[in-house]
Order: sequence, then C-alpha cells, then structure tokens
Amino acid sequence: MADGSIWRGVIHAYRPFLQIAPIDPVTLYEGNTPLLPAPRLAQAIGFHGSLYLKYEGLNPTGSFKDRGMTAAITQAVAEGAQAVICASTGNTAASAAAYAARAGLQALVLIPAGKIALGKLAAAMAYGATVLAVEGNFDEALALVRRAVEVYPIALVNSLNPYRLEGQQTAAFEICDQLRRAPDWLCIPVGNAGNITAYWKGFRAYHQAGRIDGLPHLLGVQAEGAAPLVLGHPVDHPETIATAIRIGRPARGPEALQAVRESGGRLLAVSDAEILEAWRMLAALEGLFVEPASAASIAGLRRALAQGLIPSSEGTIVAVLTGHGLKDPEIALRTLSPPITISAEWDAFRRALEPILENPLARSERLPFPS
Ligand code: F0G
Repeated sequence: MADGSIWRGVIHAYRPFLQIAPIDPVTLYEGNTPLLPAPRLAQAIGFHGSLYLKYEGLNPTGSFKDRGMTAAITQAVAEGAQAVICASTGNTAASAAAYAARAGLQALVLIPAGKIALGKLAAAMAYGATVLAVEGNFDEALALVRRAVEVYPIALVNSLNPYRLEGQQTAAFEICDQLRRAPDWLCIPVGNAGNITAYWKGFRAYHQAGRIDGLPHLLGVQAEGAAPLVLGHPVDHPETIATAIRIGRPARGPEALQAVRESGGRLLAVSDAEILEAWRMLAALEGLFVEPASAASIAGLRRALAQGLIPSSEGTIVAVLTGHGLKDPEIALRTLSPPITISAEWDAFRRALEPILENPLARSERLPFPS
C-alpha cells in the first residue's frame, strides 16, 4: 500500500466496520482490488463522464466471493464449526473450498450439474472440496442445502449467511476510499442478489460514518433468461450464457429490490448477445478478460445510457467486474475465431503474415463494435 503498511485482507483493513468475531481472520489477503479508469470503453458506449471498473477478478480465487468468504469462514471457526456447505453456480464453491482448506474445515459444495464454468469446478476440486453435482439448477441445489443445515451440524456459507454480506460490503468501502467519494452510479450484475445487498449496506455504513457525502444510485443487471427481479416473479427454468447468474429465485431478492428503490436506481435485464458483446469490448478495448456474468454490468450500463436512464454527458460511474475470465475459458473458445494454424516453415508463415500486415483494418474488422 502507498503508506508502506502491508495489506492483510479485508477484515484487517475494515474491522471497525464489520460485525464479526474478534479472532484472527482466516484470510488469503483478499480485497484491495484495482479501480481502473476505462476511457476507451466509455467512449465506445457513449459515456462522456468518468467510468471506472472495480476489477474483482483479481481476488485470490478469482472472484468477489473471497471478501464474503473470509468473514463467513472466520465466523464459522469462531463458532467451532467442523464443516461448511454451500450451493453455487461456481465461484462461491471455489471460494468456500479455498477458505475452508486454509482453516482446516471440510467443505461440501452443491453445483448444478453441467452448468458451471470449467475453471470454477477445477478450482473447487483442487482445493479439496467434496463436490456434489445436482441434476437441477442452482435454486434447487440451494433448497437442498438449506434443508441440510437444519438437520446436520454444518455451517451454511451461501450469502444467506449474514457474515458473507459483512465481508462483501468492503468492496463499497474500497471504491469510496479509492475515489475519495461515492460514485454517482454503481453498475453490478445480480444473481442470488447478495452482492448488491452488501454494496448498499456498505455505502450506507460509510455515509453514516461521514466518510462520503452522498450515496450512489444502484443499477442491478440480470440476464434476460434469468431475470426474476426485473419480471417481478420467480423463473422456474433460468437460462443464460452467464452461468454465474443463472438463478431464478434469488435468496436476497427482497433486499435487493429495496436497495435499488432506496438508492433511486434501476434494475435491467440484458440479452446474452449484449453480454457477449460487452465481454468482448472489455477485453479488446481495455485489456480486461472477465467472465460473462461480469460483463452484464457493462451491457446494462450501455443499455441504461442508450435509454436515457443514466445521463451520458457527465458523472462518475463504477461498474463491478465480479469474476476473472480464466474462470470460463470455454466461452472464449466457443464464441471467437480459432487461431490460424500454419506449418513451421518460413514460406507458410509469410503467406499468413503478409495479408495481416497489409490490412491494418483487419484487427478492428474482427470486432463488430458500433462506432
Ligand atoms: N458475478 C459472478 C461472477 C458471480 O459468481 C455471481 C454469483 C454474481 C455476479 C452475482 O452475485 O449472487 O450476489 O447476486 N455467484 C454465486 C455463486 C451465485 O454461487 O458463485 P449475487
């Protein structure tokens, strides 16, 4: 850190703001993620103020979940738990498995069979969790987990666990510390609705403590095929390419709706095509490789600007990029052109190279961005 002190994770950094047992934290030194200016992306989506990206994919297990998991696992240890359990679209599973490993606890994770990105499954397995693939969706897996914790002595570490929100609100604190104010708008993908609830809690706490003058408006973004909060009713068969937010019955739905309302914000649904285009723009214009769910925040912002819901002429906007692109390598391989294969000979190489060098437009032509 700039002042020479060493970063030791979000509990250490923000302990006075967090209701959590006063023991040594179980931590991987999560948090302290970059808040990156994104001028090229801002220009491409028609925003003339300041756009920043909170790059949560740089947390230790590659997603924002680590902020909540350090708190939930620390509290579980303080309460004497031996085992933890969660249902997950993947990132919570990987994070729970990592922090449980660090604390010497057993981790059980339930995932929707065949519907989680490869990097998340690989990580949960590598960290030594017991992974159960449920023939159903996230909502059904969560229902099983909720029942299990009523019967067995296992600690629930989904975002229904209040300590998860305690930890996750630190992202809001960091944004305010980094900007030295609150943004005008915060754009964030919404799945089970824990994160948007945690951000609002964090902004309010900072406001009450006099650390910021105003509060941001929240723009919560769901995928069209999994948009229960936008539609106003549960979705029985949620579908989206953004598997992280493929959720039809968000556990924190009512609180998320209240947060958006209190903030004077909006909820929007975006199509998979819009998500994919935003995902490519983040990578090609700003060098940020994220997983599809993260790009929903940009797809939503772009739509909100186009519809005049957010003023495009000025202001400070932060979009949260929730997870790293390496979580879901298959999406890149499935949707982008494969590399050109050439033989290891000079002539073959030259034949491939010359048209590329002669056509300086080739690169931008590959990217069908509107001007
Ligand atoms: N982005 C990513 C990358 C996620 O993994 C999630 C949620 C969200 C956004 C939405 O956050 O659920 O708090 O509204 N992933 C959960 C999981 C459901 O199991 O990993 P939310």
